[in-house]
Amino acid sequence: MEESEEHEEIQNEFVNLSPLERELRGKALLALALDERHFSPAEHVLATFRRRNKKPLPLFSLEVGDIVSLVPEGERISDFPTGTIYEKSSSTVTVAFNRPLPDWANDDLTYQLHKSINRVTYKRMAEALDAVAETRNTRLALFRDISLGEIHPSIRRIKPSELDWFNPGLNASQKEAVRKSIEANDIALIHGPPGTGKTTALVELVRQGVARKESIFVTAPSNTACDNLLERLIEQGVNALRLGHPARITTALREHTLDFKLALHPTGKIILQAQGELERLFKKEERARDRRDPGRDAMREIRDNITHLKNEIKNIKKEIFTLVMKETEVVVGTPTSMMDKALKNKFFDLLIIDEATQATEPVTWIPMTSAKKVVMAGDHFQLPPTVRSKEAEEKGLGVTLFERYYEILGSESKQLLECQYRMNEKIMGFSSKEFYDNLLVADETVKHQTLAGLSSVTKIKDTDEPLLFIDTAGKGFEERLEEGSQSRFNPEEAELVLLELKKMLDLGVPPEEIAVISPYSAQVRFLTSRTPDPKVEIDSVDGFQGREKELVIVSLVRSNMEGEMGFLNDTRRMNVAMTRARRKLIVIGDSATLSSIKFYEDFMKYAEAHGIYKSAWEL
Ligand SMILES: Nc1ncnc2c1ncn2[C@@H]1O[C@H](COP(=O)(O)OP(=O)(O)OP(=O)(O)O)[C@@H](O)[C@H]1O
Ligand SMILES: [Mg+2]
Repeated sequence: MEESEEHEEIQNEFVNLSPLERELRGKALLALALDERHFSPAEHVLATFRRRNKKPLPLFSLEVGDIVSLVPEGERISDFPTGTIYEKSSSTVTVAFNRPLPDWANDDLTYQLHKSINRVTYKRMAEALDAVAETRNTRLALFRDISLGEIHPSIRRIKPSELDWFNPGLNASQKEAVRKSIEANDIALIHGPPGTGKTTALVELVRQGVARKESIFVTAPSNTACDNLLERLIEQGVNALRLGHPARITTALREHTLDFKLALHPTGKIILQAQGELERLFKKEERARDRRDPGRDAMREIRDNITHLKNEIKNIKKEIFTLVMKETEVVVGTPTSMMDKALKNKFFDLLIIDEATQATEPVTWIPMTSAKKVVMAGDHFQLPPTVRSKEAEEKGLGVTLFERYYEILGSESKQLLECQYRMNEKIMGFSSKEFYDNLLVADETVKHQTLAGLSSVTKIKDTDEPLLFIDTAGKGFEERLEEGSQSRFNPEEAELVLLELKKMLDLGVPPEEIAVISPYSAQVRFLTSRTPDPKVEIDSVDGFQGREKELVIVSLVRSNMEGEMGFLNDTRRMNVAMTRARRKLIVIGDSATLSSIKFYEDFMKYAEAHGIYKSAWEL
């Protein structure tokens, strides 16, 4: 259902839309010139395109990580190379291809890039579901039967003295969570509100597993969440290998991908030499062929040498792969990446799934087909999985596997975390009241922290207040619809966001410690194109799940006469947005529109009582 919905969308667009309309919808880029080609360290061919007329590219367009076909304009060719968008700037787009571009690709042609869909996820979901339905006497059958309540998971108690903590700073419930996870033979869950250290507990669990020489796969449903895990594992000195196309992985972490590790391995130099030699042989072969009488024996010798060298390169590559895998303690990647060719039917002792409440049930089953034991962390009050099809959502895709296990498992297999180490208590308070029955506790070390406590920051009232709501009501800041994407943006509200941002930068808040987040991707694009400092992260709420910054500015965008709120209606998304800030949270929105939903009305009252409530008129 889900795939056909997406497939249908794309089919309709191909049949009914002209290339120009596809470009408007962010599904294509036209009139491109090939600007430059080079190799990435991971041996991809990187081709950079810009508009023939040198104008900037549209704001709403293909995104980094999208899979695209390269189509020459006006040429009759049926086989288009596909690649992955690797980098983007305001006027250029760089695509990574796995092979050299075809001979017809020269600098004089005009090109188009067209987005194509990645069916791999759907295929793997379907395969995993078939396996779940049919399997007998396997670990997967056991996971299935536990999820149906037919079998109880088993545990093997250990003495507390058997555990040496890598991170002795974990609190009692985090330690309980790790202990229960180790004691579980089959499955364990960790749940808890934002900032309570679920991911921190998982990192400890990984280190415990590494010490026990277990093979471990760590996963989360989005690339951002995987990068977050990877970063934290590396900080702790774990040798982690990141699966997935480097284009979909934060630049700073690309060196940990398989592609980069293979290419950067010390033995890789031998390959470079061999490739140089190969090139020389090819040229020799060419020259010999051009001669009138090449001589059969001479030709054969050259060809034999080529074959020999090719085999040698293949063998060295295999060897490097084995070396890299041997050094690897933990593999990190999205659920689909576990089926990557590189892992070839590998079975893991331990599978760890973070942000498990953001993955649909079929997606969660994919990595579970190849693991002996699984530990999941999640929070049912943060972002739910994205389900495109309404029908599929109603038929059960909206309920996650984490939630199903949560209902069934006993207290020996799950642990709640309640003490949070991220937010000032005033930032935490509203979320705690709305979603967690006021049970969330702020640790002493963070309870009263404000920006003023950072050494670079000027100490004034603005930097010592943890919560600020700016009300734009009556200012006439109307939301707009972005052409093509159907997403919304609010340029005047954006100006206000930028004003606050500049103020905070001037007060000495380090740009890398600031995030601006908005539920609307069009607002994210609009703000990104105008940011005073590229080190400030500007992203969607979904792109920020699991992460934190000292200062977070949330731009709510919606402002209309009808009180229409779109997906601001899903308050779980707001729960994520509002719980990313450690020392200061600034929310900007229009009270006249927002007050049509009680949640926002309550938030504004909370801000008035526990923080600062300002009208945009006062600024
Ligand atoms: N026991 C602890 N002592 C001190 N700091 C901690 C402890 N546990 C976690 N932290 C810190 O608290 C912050 C939040 O932790 P973490 O990201 O693990 O929480 P989380 O539950 O995964 O949050 P989210 O729900 O947003 O994913 C991090 O800065 C982390 O370093
Ligand atoms: Mg987390």
